[in-house]
Amino acid sequence: MKKIFLISVLVLSIAATAVFTSSCATQRELSAQKTGAELWAQNCIRCHNIPSPDAYNNDDWETIGLHMKIRANMTSEQVDKIIEFMKTAN
Ligand code: HEC
Repeated sequence: MKKIFLISVLVLSIAATAVFTSSCATQRELSAQKTGAELWAQNCIRCHNIPSPDAYNNDDWETIGLHMKIRANMTSEQVDKIIEFMKTAN
């Protein structure tokens, strides 16, 4: 009886991990389709007022991108898109 319980706990946790991993993959795919402008609008407003692209020059955006990548817990791909957008929009 105890063995059956342990096995079902194991099976359930494997299933839960599979569901969790696949939903993460979907999330990643969705965010991979977003443009720099969309990522900027959705992420950079989470903690402070959204910074205007012309508030800083291109060199500053490189530095700020590295800084906010860590703060916002974003991937390099996402931050690169945002920096590209900031540079073309300023
Ligand atoms: C998790 C919260 C958080 C997110 C998300 C976030 N920031 Fe920030 N940001 C901060 C904090 C806190 C500061 C001020 C302190 C500091 O500089 O670390 C800041 C400061 C700034 C500054 C002022 C200059 C500087 O480097 O200090 C700029 C510009 C900026 N953020 C741009 C952005 C952009 C662009 C994004 C989107 C990619 C973004 N932030 C996303 C927390 C965040």
